[in-house]
Amino acid sequence: MSEALPHPEEARSPAIAVEAHAAVAPAPMMRVRHLWHRFGNRDVLRDVTFDVGAGEIFGFIGPNGAGKTTTIRVMATLLEPMAGRVEIDGIDVTIDPEAVRKMIGYMPDHAGVYDRITVREYLEFFADAFQVPAMSVVDAVLELTDLGKLQDRLVAEMSKGMKQRLQLARILLHDPKVLILDEPASDLDPRARIEIRDLLLELRGLGKTIFLSSHILTELSDVCTSIAILERGRLVVAGPINEIAARLEAMRAAQAYGHAQPPPGYAHPHAPHAAAGHAAQGHPQHPQHPQVAPPQPAVRRVKLRVLGNPEMAAYLLRGGPGIMDVSVVGGVVHVGYTGPETKIAEMINHLVHRNVGIVGVEPERNELERIFLEVTRGEVQ
Ligand SMILES: Nc1ncnc2c1ncn2[C@@H]1O[C@H](COP(=O)(O)OP(=O)(O)O)[C@@H](O)[C@H]1O
Ligand SMILES: [Mg+2]
Repeated sequence: MSEALPHPEEARSPAIAVEAHAAVAPAPMMRVRHLWHRFGNRDVLRDVTFDVGAGEIFGFIGPNGAGKTTTIRVMATLLEPMAGRVEIDGIDVTIDPEAVRKMIGYMPDHAGVYDRITVREYLEFFADAFQVPAMSVVDAVLELTDLGKLQDRLVAEMSKGMKQRLQLARILLHDPKVLILDEPASDLDPRARIEIRDLLLELRGLGKTIFLSSHILTELSDVCTSIAILERGRLVVAGPINEIAARLEAMRAAQAYGHAQPPPGYAHPHAPHAAAGHAAQGHPQHPQHPQVAPPQPAVRRVKLRVLGNPEMAAYLLRGGPGIMDVSVVGGVVHVGYTGPETKIAEMINHLVHRNVGIVGVEPERNELERIFLEVTRGEVQ
């Protein structure tokens, strides 16, 4: 389909981060546009729009009931949405589901495996069903997923992590370019989770685009290149993690100077008109490609517990190089700074040399957690 003209629906869509990204990136591997779905009288998906670039590991994050599985079932050609569309590599999933199925490997949540056969038999069975030349492909997939040693093991005797790996092996048999994984790491122990993560990185290295969902933010999110956060059927934010972080930073700065408007490229579902209006004002010609906010140095945060008077420590830090703000909350010194983590060491050095004893240093939560807490309100359906 043509990329030159915006779809009429897109012209009035709220600006979302990922579309700004699309302005510079090659055509996305997955395009989700204005998905709406309703079960009974409840809107489960409400105007969900985002892109997944080729070669990304894309995290689809949201609490239970947010609508992740419903979105994924549409992507996997198993559910027709009431409105909107999904394209995988330019092919509409409702218009040509057969072609899409050849391109995707879909792993449902809570997938069962046949228990009373061996790992190899299991894969050979599916290779047969997919009409792929069984022996060589099964061998390749066994090696890739590191299941070779277990090939004669009964599926029933495998751990959850190994069964999950077998599921991944199964969906790789027809060499799909896109993997769609619904909560691949839920119920896995930490070791199995790390192993799945390594496998996903390896698959990405082979050129696959990987879309995975999770209700646990930190589960696999550290391997993701981009994320979308879904809350009550609405997309809260989407795009490359570093761009989202920079944009939130810009928004915080704007708010600090009394501008309540979010920066272009950011839409909050709780203030959709503000975001859409802003984008439309700024770019009447190209409403689908809102301008990306200029990158701002990210402000990081650290909390310091000190012996003696915390106000004195705060006084000593204020105005230092890269120190953006310092405050004392509940006896703890909160510092906002820009630059690398070595800044923390410099701060501590500075204080210690002025006889301030440090008893605790607590860096901010990881970036994704911070984004998540900032853009969601903890709402569930
Ligand atoms: N087949 C169905 N019939 C009725 N309601 C459904 C059905 N499938 C999902 N839902 C409801 O839709 C909402 C979104 O579900 P789902 O997409 O499974 O969310 P998630 O995967 O994010 O946990 C939930 O409130 C769920 O109860
Ligand atoms: Mg689900």
